[in-house]
Amino acid sequence: MTDRETGEKRSVRSALVTGGGRGLGRGIAEALAARDFHVVVTHRPGSAGAAAVLRAIRHRGGTADSIPLDLTEAAPFTAFRERLVTLLSDGDTPRLDVLINNAGVGVFRALDELTPEDYEESFAVNIRGPLFLTQALADLMPPGASVVNVSTQMTRQADPTSLLYSASKAALESLTGTLAMALGPRGIRVNSIAPGPTATDFNGGAMRDSEALREYISSRTAFGRVGTPDDIALAVAGLLHPDMAWITGQRIEAAGGAFL
Ligand SMILES: NC(=O)c1ccc[n+]([C@@H]2O[C@H](COP(=O)([O-])OP(=O)(O)OC[C@H]3O[C@@H](n4cnc5c(N)ncnc54)[C@H](OP(=O)(O)O)[C@@H]3O)[C@@H](O)[C@H]2O)c1
Repeated sequence: MTDRETGEKRSVRSALVTGGGRGLGRGIAEALAARDFHVVVTHRPGSAGAAAVLRAIRHRGGTADSIPLDLTEAAPFTAFRERLVTLLSDGDTPRLDVLINNAGVGVFRALDELTPEDYEESFAVNIRGPLFLTQALADLMPPGASVVNVSTQMTRQADPTSLLYSASKAALESLTGTLAMALGPRGIRVNSIAPGPTATDFNGGAMRDSEALREYISSRTAFGRVGTPDDIALAVAGLLHPDMAWITGQRIEAAGGAFL
């Protein structure tokens, strides 16, 4: 990888973070860049994009790029793969050390309000996308690489408005185990992180903007507060540490003890 500032070749590990332009994805991207990963973040075409996170990473001496990606697009992600390979090649064999399937949507509606379109979007972004993106990129991943699927604490909670969200993320957790078995022989680990309520734009920014909701949720946690993107980013970085090399196929909850 060529350093943009010095033009020098650097041997760095690379990471792809879907939905890395904001929220948890941005936190994860910045945490990995701080650990010397070259980070590629995705953002939806037409969304605010990832300029701010790229600026922040480069300002601290890291290297980062972005590629547009809409996970509702039909798989396979051939064009996306080609763009990523071009970015990661830089004269060397392209190599992806970490894939963070972070992008996700939460549709929170009562049973009689749900539409087939809600179903299509929830399952396209939360499970079909991660599955076929992993399929498209797995052969770029060397032994020792890791896939992390971002699930949710809500897969073990029966909230009546979380029908599609919890079901699609439960599918992602199931995929985590089966992918761990499929990719284990190649030396690739696959785990899921299940964040608890965290203050981001998610669900209309409710966890960040509604004091009443934040107070209620905080009262149901061990630490008396909701999460921040940094809390989740540190958990992901920890899971990627080489000391965790024997951990695969697992669901790790990073929720500050929410709803225990
Ligand atoms: N915040 C929480 O309380 C919480 C708790 C548990 C789990 N999670 C999970 O954590 C992940 C990140 O959530 P967040 O809190 O950071 O939410 P967020 O601020 O709403 O960000 C969602 C991210 O997903 C991306 N995304 C949405 N639809 C997409 C699509 N069709 N194609 C590609 N990318 C798409 C968005 O990209 P753009 O920026 O381009 O729109 C954005 O980067 C999600 O998987 C979510 O389910 C969040």
